[in-house]
Amino acid sequence: MGDLFDFDQPASLYAVMGNPVAHSRSPQIHQMFAEQFGLRVEYQKIQVDLGGLPQAVANFRAAGGQGLNITLPFKLDAFRLVDELSPRALLAAAVNTISFTHDDQIIGDNTDGAGICRDIMFNLERPIAGRRVLLVGAGGAVRGVLGPILEACPELLVIANRTVDKAVELERHFSRFRSVAGCGFDDLSGQQFDIVINGTSASVADEVPAIPHTVFASGALAYDMMYGDRPTVFIEWAARHGAGQTADGIGMLVEQAAESFTIWHDRTPQTGPVIAALRNARSA
Ligand code: ATR
Repeated sequence: MGDLFDFDQPASLYAVMGNPVAHSRSPQIHQMFAEQFGLRVEYQKIQVDLGGLPQAVANFRAAGGQGLNITLPFKLDAFRLVDELSPRALLAAAVNTISFTHDDQIIGDNTDGAGICRDIMFNLERPIAGRRVLLVGAGGAVRGVLGPILEACPELLVIANRTVDKAVELERHFSRFRSVAGCGFDDLSGQQFDIVINGTSASVADEVPAIPHTVFASGALAYDMMYGDRPTVFIEWAARHGAGQTADGIGMLVEQAAESFTIWHDRTPQTGPVIAALRNARSA
């Protein structure tokens, strides 16, 4: 019987770069994925100064690094830095996953949209196809997931933002998808949705975006892309106003990590046990 790990093999080196990055759960998630396959992986958190991403990536590669996750506020910097972009990173105008070719080309991908779609469709068992979806917010987080959600064929996808112009701009950018519309919060009165996603950063300040509380269709899913040690104020508000199901962004976090892991290791990890472990650690 062999050991679980092959200790003759050096651990392969990965990291997440961000600012701040201390709170990141990615090392823990990637460690749990690696254990599923008996892989030896070292996954670091690297805090990068603003403007310092190109140098940090070069240093990491020189130290033998094999793949990177990029988190706030560097996803646009990474988009500009890479030599080659996946189609979904191009659509998102943001990169959250970097890999390197043998001749040191930097490849940028974006797994955020795939992550949220997998979480909603497979973990939460809510189809997007043919459903009415409301996406609240029009910043980087929303832009990062719009393409894959639209590709999942909702009947209608409304982007509503406090600053209306930004929602209209996103509608214009994604107008090849006929089902997309951008608007302000007031325009939502009288409309109901099967899936309501909070893609704003309001939860960070314990605020709820000022959307009408009537947006939830019967049994609607309320989804917050943010997560914390307790339910976000949006989740609590949605549950009080008729959402039939609620979820925070832990599932999306694990699913986008799984997609990055697959890019780097060519193996698809099981996400269910990892999501459960993170949720248990939180409630402990
Ligand atoms: P991110 O990259 O996290 O999306 P961002 O690009 O700064 O960050 O975008 C933040 C988003 O949250 C924006 O859509 C912002 O609305 P505005 O464009 O009107 O600024 C939204 N947001 C932040 N706080 C909010 C609040 N309290 N209520 C409603 N929307 C809020």
